[in-house]
Amino acid sequence: MTASSSQPVESFDLVIYGGTGDLAVRKLLPALFHRFLDGQIPRSSRIVGVARAALSHEDYRNTVSQSISKLAAGVPAEQTAAFLDLIGYRSLDARKDDGWDEFAQMLSERPDNVRVFYLSTSPDLFSAICQRLGSYGLNQGQSRVVLEKPIGHDLASANKINDDVGQVFSESQTFRIDHYLGKETVQNLLALRFGNALFEPLWNAEHIEHVQITVAETVGVGHRAGYYDGSGAMRDMVQNHILQLLCMVAMEPPAALSPDAVRDEKLKVLRSLKPIDDSNAAQLTVRGQYRAGVAEGESVKGYQDELASKSHTETFVALKAEIANWRWAGVPFYLRTGKRLPERVSEIVVTFRAVPHSIFDPSSGPLQQNRLVLRLQPDEGVKLWLTIKHPGPGGLRLRHVPLDMSFVEAFGVQQPDSYERLLMDVVRGNPTLFMRRDEVEAAWLWADPILAAWANSGDAPKPYTAGTWGPSAAVALIERDGSTWNEDTE
Ligand code: BG6
Repeated sequence: MTASSSQPVESFDLVIYGGTGDLAVRKLLPALFHRFLDGQIPRSSRIVGVARAALSHEDYRNTVSQSISKLAAGVPAEQTAAFLDLIGYRSLDARKDDGWDEFAQMLSERPDNVRVFYLSTSPDLFSAICQRLGSYGLNQGQSRVVLEKPIGHDLASANKINDDVGQVFSESQTFRIDHYLGKETVQNLLALRFGNALFEPLWNAEHIEHVQITVAETVGVGHRAGYYDGSGAMRDMVQNHILQLLCMVAMEPPAALSPDAVRDEKLKVLRSLKPIDDSNAAQLTVRGQYRAGVAEGESVKGYQDELASKSHTETFVALKAEIANWRWAGVPFYLRTGKRLPERVSEIVVTFRAVPHSIFDPSSGPLQQNRLVLRLQPDEGVKLWLTIKHPGPGGLRLRHVPLDMSFVEAFGVQQPDSYERLLMDVVRGNPTLFMRRDEVEAAWLWADPILAAWANSGDAPKPYTAGTWGPSAAVALIERDGSTWNEDTE
């Protein structure tokens, strides 16, 4: 990595509930280590893992040390040791009082530190944890609470959580994280749209034919089957990550890059989504579930074999959404996500309309539509596909080529993980890239009738073989309209 230009944040105490869980170990702690190495985290900060297990500080430090071992290779041992010195552990049960007094005492030792309570647990513990944070008087000074998704499993449960959290923390203290908003390309979409005069005049139904958003994963559900089976791709990915991406593409220009200006515009998009319900879900949505197949060269089990029971939970969703407003009326937004697809790729593809009339002889080759491809992962970057003349003498032949800006190549920097930025934003108290309560509600309001329509239909999700692009109905969904899913993986 090149030298950082990041500014240190204020000294903080970050308490991670679910401190031994997958997210903390795989994502949060490595992200914090990176920020520490970059000099952004003051050494008077503390990072406290909390879980029910009776572990010592030392046991937990060993867990953390393993979780950062790859990153620590090549880092001077004193620096890794200095990071591990910030780490502590508390055994607490959200539903019992044991240990909470001592925990409160420990926090009170650094009254000036910003306090961050990161709830990386199942959402059914959010209310209990917040209630105890309130009753032990821990919401003091500069305190914030971070809620990991999913926030509930439908509108009613999300409202209940938000009400309970709201009893203790104000909206401005509540950071609902969607780590897709921390991805570099997503923020770059803001820069691209609103920092260039080029795109915004064309960014509407008159010039854009359709938009595709794909978040494809090669992984299966594996050890997360317990959580995932109660959730499915709609609740796990579409209701949050994919809708947030859609908002960033479709929102009106905010007046400023301030938290409420941005979130007000995103909210309007969510509220403009055309309802999908019993009347049209069969035409506009496809859900699938993987069967045994091949992933990354290896034979893999089907979803129900992993789960060891029967299930109607979808591991794939494709749908055609529409935003009913002046800018976007009639422009399809094709959204698709799934597990056990052939490659890991997340991208937004904006396809512009064809030129109104071709002046070229058919022998010049087909005239293809301009496409803007924003690649979130892997190989973050932006490509704008243009038509040019094939260089050299002879007849005029047309070629479709990308203006390609791979961020790693262009800037020579490794992109920071999304949690790095978002965790520092929480400490700074900047909620621009976090979801406001009304956004979460609007997203559930749209998603709930789709889930209900699927449940009412009684149909099982369509099977697809692991390692393929989902059920064939997902291909038909877009081909019916004369388009295809983007296949350029160059
Ligand atoms: C999480 C989902 O929010 O996002 C997971 O719960 C999914 O199921 C993950 O695998 C994808 O995140 P990323 O950053 O790896 O694309």
